[in-house]
Amino acid sequence: MMGAKMYETVYVGEEKLIGEIIKLTGDVAFIQVYENTSGLRPGEPVTATGRPLSVVLGPGLLGSVYDGVQRPLNRLGEISGGFIRRGIQVDPLDRGRRWRFIPSAKKGSEVGPGDVLGVVPETPLVETKIMVPPDIHPGKLLEIAPEGEYTVDDRVAVIETRSGRVEVGLSHIWPVRRGRPFKSRLNPEVPLTTGQRVLDTFFPMSKGGTACIPGAFGTGKTVTLHQLAKWSDAKVIFHIGCGERGNEESEVLTEFPHLVDPYSGRPLMERTVLVANTSNMPVAAREASIYTGGTMAEYFRDMGYDVLLVADSTSRWAEALREISGRLEEMPAEEGYPSYLASRLAEFYERAGRVVTLGNPERVGSVTLVGAVSPPGGDFTEPVTTHTMRFIRTFWALDANLAYTRHYPAINWINSYSAYVETVAKWWHENVSPEWASLRAEAYGLLQREADLLELVRLLGPEALPDEEKLILDVARMIREGFLQQSAYDEVDAYCPPKKQVKLLSLFVLFHKLAREALARGVPLKDIRSLPVIPKIIRAKYEIRNDALEELDRLAQTVREAFEHLELAPQISG
Ligand SMILES: Nc1ncnc2c1ncn2[C@@H]1O[C@H](COP(=O)(O)OP(=O)(O)OP(=O)(O)O)[C@@H](O)[C@H]1O
Ligand SMILES: [Mg+2]
Repeated sequence: MMGAKMYETVYVGEEKLIGEIIKLTGDVAFIQVYENTSGLRPGEPVTATGRPLSVVLGPGLLGSVYDGVQRPLNRLGEISGGFIRRGIQVDPLDRGRRWRFIPSAKKGSEVGPGDVLGVVPETPLVETKIMVPPDIHPGKLLEIAPEGEYTVDDRVAVIETRSGRVEVGLSHIWPVRRGRPFKSRLNPEVPLTTGQRVLDTFFPMSKGGTACIPGAFGTGKTVTLHQLAKWSDAKVIFHIGCGERGNEESEVLTEFPHLVDPYSGRPLMERTVLVANTSNMPVAAREASIYTGGTMAEYFRDMGYDVLLVADSTSRWAEALREISGRLEEMPAEEGYPSYLASRLAEFYERAGRVVTLGNPERVGSVTLVGAVSPPGGDFTEPVTTHTMRFIRTFWALDANLAYTRHYPAINWINSYSAYVETVAKWWHENVSPEWASLRAEAYGLLQREADLLELVRLLGPEALPDEEKLILDVARMIREGFLQQSAYDEVDAYCPPKKQVKLLSLFVLFHKLAREALARGVPLKDIRSLPVIPKIIRAKYEIRNDALEELDRLAQTVREAFEHLELAPQISG
């Protein structure tokens, strides 16, 4: 293997199995093969391709289902049936399909990396921009194809660069382990709204941000990621299944094609790409899958779109890393993971960001990364969770006790955090309500007080608390049931628009304020507790439809009236 390079893609054996060089010592190469290698014999040929593991980027990605090395699973299935034959090679993009290309760049103009040459209306939801690839020198546009139908291999532009004439087609190739370049990074000040109250209001995510969802077995990682994929206000969604059980993965593959985009009513797959690697597929492809997905996500970011990538679960990905490292006989570090686990995780999460893209016209795009983590036994001190926490800025901690009591989403509001609360506050102030930050702080304060008070109650019993503190426990419980809990399966409640989140939250804060005042006037706590408006507040999340938010204002009025009618207790007034 003299002359071969690190991370070069190679074909191994008569069957041409895809592999990648992951270690070189002299003329001996260690190759990680992305397919089952049983039956390979000494003496079979290995062919170097001269390029690193790469993906093909162009029209046709949307709606596709790929494995970790960008082989289209649906077309593989058509060719080789339910069981994929080894060494089978199918192009990532359908080369026979014709796409309508509408040019926008002018012949004779100067163009450079990232400049938009034209567009392909790929699906009714996403227009794919055909850009000058990032690795081409700037130059003069000698030719630009007229509007018409072209395949991904057809030439649509010719550029005269200082290194010669370069032909540009509808598609190009990019190595998966190298982030695509951009002009500059922007502050994470625009939230990624998800319609999930506990996330948006208490632990907000920003466009271009990073988050992890750690949780023990069955606590709701997958459901939460699916909620994000369905409801986030991102333009393009990537769902990476890295090594979850095969039947769970097939659920994704059968469920997603039926999902409807809530914003347009069209199939969600028109703006979604799935990358699927089940635990019974080769580990090496699983290791590659997050880079494959990340690179495709950056391609849509470069068009000026907001992209959300969710990975389920990065623990299985880390296990693949461990397995490969073990085969290389590398020195294991914590719990058998290689010492470079942390740097690999960093490399992945570093690819998130909200950026100004290369090229004209100027565009802003983002890649938001969310990874589930499955710590064995729910122990957050294990290596994958602790290292991931160093690189993410939003931590949505799932809690087995909450899941056990069917408090969903089982996100623990005391252990979770978001570093974006302050940066996104301006957006909420300007776009939703100037009260968001103060309502949030007030409600969150009540939840924190509740946690402290419950400690006291455990020691001294509930009767030891004064009425004002019992009231805090009451209101915190109302916030938990009426705000934090949100069913992914309820027709209305599955998605809660930002305006509704603020209006709901203001009900609890209003209730607390009026109840406190009533207590001070001498109204007994039991009279407050039996107010019939309380269950109405708790059920407002699903009883009041998302398109009838004025009813929440009426409910606030009802709350005020209920307190006005509360009589003073006779013994005090007397
Ligand atoms: N937001 C939610 N609303 C309603 N039910 C939920 C919600 N989140 C989780 N659940 C319930 O919890 C169950 C388990 O969730 P899920 O499959 O997402 O767990 P997981 O953490 O991915 O588990 P595993 O570790 O096995 O992958 C779901 O089948 C569902 O019944
Ligand atoms: Mg799961």
